Amino acid sequence: MSRSVDGNLPVVAVVTGATGGLGREIVRGLVREGMAVVLGVRDPSKGEAVQLELCREPGGGRIEVLPLDLASLTSVRRFGASVADRHPSINLLVNNAGAWFNERRLSPDGHEMTLATNTLGPYLLTETLLPLLQAGKPSRIVNIVSAATGGYDVNDLDWKRRPFNGFKAYTQSKQAVRFMTWTLAGRLVGKGVVANAVSPGFVRTAFLDQATGMVATVLRVLSPFATPPAKAADTPLWVALAPEWADKTGRYVEARKEKNGGSRRESDLESLDSLLRAMTS
Ligand SMILES: NC(=O)c1ccc[n+]([C@@H]2O[C@H](COP(=O)([O-])OP(=O)(O)OC[C@H]3O[C@@H](n4cnc5c(N)ncnc54)[C@H](OP(=O)(O)O)[C@@H]3O)[C@@H](O)[C@H]2O)c1
Repeated sequence: MSRSVDGNLPVVAVVTGATGGLGREIVRGLVREGMAVVLGVRDPSKGEAVQLELCREPGGGRIEVLPLDLASLTSVRRFGASVADRHPSINLLVNNAGAWFNERRLSPDGHEMTLATNTLGPYLLTETLLPLLQAGKPSRIVNIVSAATGGYDVNDLDWKRRPFNGFKAYTQSKQAVRFMTWTLAGRLVGKGVVANAVSPGFVRTAFLDQATGMVATVLRVLSPFATPPAKAADTPLWVALAPEWADKTGRYVEARKEKNGGSRRESDLESLDSLLRAMTS
């Protein structure tokens, strides 16, 4: 693994959802590579605890904590402006934060919460930080998705017409992030920014506690077989840092293996992109 994205320091990364689980281990890996990492967190005290823990890591990386609630478009815009105030350019964005809701709830902007947190927030964040990523090129975007897909309905992303299903809302939101990644990768070809999607596998984190009912029972039974977060962070870090990933874009990766990643039908990508643009403007 290289020390930095292009071999030149300084290198700045933005990582969401780093208060625990997979995100904290991704940040640990980046700090060990000497990167300056901006954590976008909902709860500053949790972010500061991670900062305190990880600043002792060897490697000389630095951590900054800035407020970010991905479920709120206003908060995402504020976070983007704060990052831009502090850094004229960035080289890496890891859209890692994710959530699961068992009941249909609405975000401050009136969207279903899973969609708002897992798709609309990362979409707007990426668009907001794109000028900084382009200023810092060569740059990389790593979107954390799920191996599970399904429940995707472009005509009902907000779950207004269907009975709500938390698991399907989650898999839909992650399918949308895959589509978002393919679109972004296509748009950015030749512009010095690559975008890839990584599934971390089944990881032993607090995330598994969010499910209820049948899904919770299945997850409880399987949880002894889940991968520890430090091990699961290996693939996202590989895609974020390794020289062989400098030019690859629009790929889907699981456990250091490139896989097909599902449908890339242009009409699906276009219809989602225009919807996401409308929902976040
Ligand atoms: N665990 C698995 O088996 C698994 C499998 C496939 C994909 N994934 C994906 O991996 C990523 C990391 O999940 P994890 O397993 O590490 O779960 P986790 O330990 O629950 O971490 C989720 C992170 O997202 C943050 N977050 C949630 N809602 C947010 C919001 N509105 N604004 C900002 N941050 C928010 C949480 O912050 P707070 O501390 O504020 O809650 C936390 O830092 C997620 O995208 C998840 O979908 C996980």
